[in-house]
Amino acid sequence: MSTTGQAAGRFITFEGIDGSGKSTQARLLAEHLRAAGHEVVLTREPGGSPGAEDIRKLVLEGAQDRWTPETELLLFTAARRDHLERVIEPALSRGAIVICDRYVDSTRMYQGIARGDLRAQVDALHALMIKRDPDLTILIDMDPARGLDRALARGGDEERFESFGTEMQARIRRGFLDLANEFADRFVVIEGNRAIEDIAGDIQSLVTQALA
Ligand code: ADP
Ligand code: TYD
Repeated sequence: MSTTGQAAGRFITFEGIDGSGKSTQARLLAEHLRAAGHEVVLTREPGGSPGAEDIRKLVLEGAQDRWTPETELLLFTAARRDHLERVIEPALSRGAIVICDRYVDSTRMYQGIARGDLRAQVDALHALMIKRDPDLTILIDMDPARGLDRALARGGDEERFESFGTEMQARIRRGFLDLANEFADRFVVIEGNRAIEDIAGDIQSLVTQALA
């Protein structure tokens, strides 16, 4: 299943609009797989390693115009490279299952389409500096207005992207569905506007199948 290396592990990513339930479902999947005896590394982007968490603060806090989309793309890619070197690749080499809350498809969406017209640059940097693709990407699809309400209800300082509003979230939702078609070999789309346990049950079934 792996596209770029000899790693024995599996690399699963979660994608979707802000507030769609990615973090909740990533955590529940990690708990389920650990209970089944797997070594699981649960991580997130931007961040996931100490250096990348420092970059996370730079990109997620502050005014909307703090960075241009081009600079953002470089910062997110730098964070990903550090995360990959220090956390993801070592875990996959050990044979662990890595579950990552957002990854390159978020960069394709946010820097590539929503914030700028940089999709070609995102793909070029990915091919040059990252190379590792997920084995399985779970897209949690849901109504943008509900997702935004959930995300804003959480509060906190990381609202630089959430303050873009419902119209942008709707564009991002459509963009993620387009990515799911483009990379149909690794994407699965899950309806997110349901009870947490029902979504978790579906994800457990499809991951169990994928691991078999
Ligand atoms: P994301 O990581 O996609 O931004 P979270 O998992 O952090 O989303 O969820 C955002 C908020 O919505 C949290 O407060 C979480 O408890 C809540 N939530 C997550 N999934 C559901 C669901 N299926 N139904 C209702 N609330 C949910
Ligand atoms: P995250 O903490 O996952 O937000 P949420 O839990 O609300 O879904 O990600 C923070 C923001 O970073 C999110 O709005 C999407 C954005 N982002 C990018 O713009 N590019 C990227 O490459 C990544 C990984 C995230």
